[in-house]
Amino acid sequence: MTSLTRCGYRKNESAREHSGERARLACWRSWPGFVDFRKQNAPASKKLHDHSAQKFAKAGRFRQQARPVRYPTMNWNRKDLLGLRELSADEINFILETADAFKQVGTREIKKVPALRGKTLVNFFVEPSTRTRTSFELAAFRLSADVINLSASTSSLAKGETLKDTARNLEALHADILVLRHSSAGAPQFLGQRLKASVINAGDGAHEHPTQALLDLYTIREKRGKIAGLHVAIVGDILFSRVARSNIFGLVKLGARVTLVGPITLVPREFEKLGVAVSHKIDNVLPEADVVNLLRIQHERQRKEYFPGLSEYTALFGLTKERAKLLKPDCLIMHPGPINRGVEIDSEVADGAQSVILDQVTNGLAVRMAVLYLCGGIST
Ligand code: CP
Repeated sequence: MTSLTRCGYRKNESAREHSGERARLACWRSWPGFVDFRKQNAPASKKLHDHSAQKFAKAGRFRQQARPVRYPTMNWNRKDLLGLRELSADEINFILETADAFKQVGTREIKKVPALRGKTLVNFFVEPSTRTRTSFELAAFRLSADVINLSASTSSLAKGETLKDTARNLEALHADILVLRHSSAGAPQFLGQRLKASVINAGDGAHEHPTQALLDLYTIREKRGKIAGLHVAIVGDILFSRVARSNIFGLVKLGARVTLVGPITLVPREFEKLGVAVSHKIDNVLPEADVVNLLRIQHERQRKEYFPGLSEYTALFGLTKERAKLLKPDCLIMHPGPINRGVEIDSEVADGAQSVILDQVTNGLAVRMAVLYLCGGIST
């Protein structure tokens, strides 16, 4: 049984509780590479003589909080995250390694850090979302930012206001970070060029969904220990998938071999120009794959019929129980969600031992904390 102090805290916990965030911030400061954005503009004398931080960082009782983290040194200078196409492999790895640090924070009793205290984040979702919106909101809370949620139907977009005017009004209210999901490809880039605030792309049309690809990369690296040299099959509606595009850019940059699989109408050979292989025969690809990432059919973006029907799609490209037997035993089964059970993936396979679908969701929180932390520190 855990012994309690007179105050009711667990042993050795009362001092940490009473000293509160100040102690935890000191531990954050003790991490190599930690950037305290509030101190970047402080006078030089203040930067040199932070006795309280040193005192707390040295205190042995806080060492448990300041677990060693491999935290790479890099000058991050992007205020926006618009896509993985423009990121270098080093930048992608830097985000993933920053996410490692935040994943550790998520295992602590107190899961909150003050990195974005005083910053305001607006979560502006013009298209529906469960995972992305929720995890950006939770990530911002964990970084101590103030969060406002806005949707198309509850904003003045519904009354004819333009996206640019809406965003400029949000900035006039001192929003520091705008997380935007929009049905139009390029909408986050459009705002990123016009706003001082950071703009984070939470999915724009069929263009990019960078944080989804980052969490997919993070999950592959976590489960397989590497990305380079792995064979990743992305199966489904590639043509209309922003998840596929961001995954292709990220996986190719990090040295994975990528095969796109699906009907010829949804996986044209044009994609080979991005440095990937294209196949229209899933049964040939599954036995060789180290990772299979299933995508749903994006009916909301399709303007015509691209295949005869869902049952035919499932028969030819669905990861059925029978087909799953073709996979290597250590092949990861991934899906960005939302899943259409019984269409692109059998329900039992989605919930089976090889599935890492819910791990992807969990990792999304750490990855989005990393992105907000890095870009949010650059916004002016
Ligand atoms: N994967 C993904 O973007 O899910 P949501 O649409 O629920 O955010």
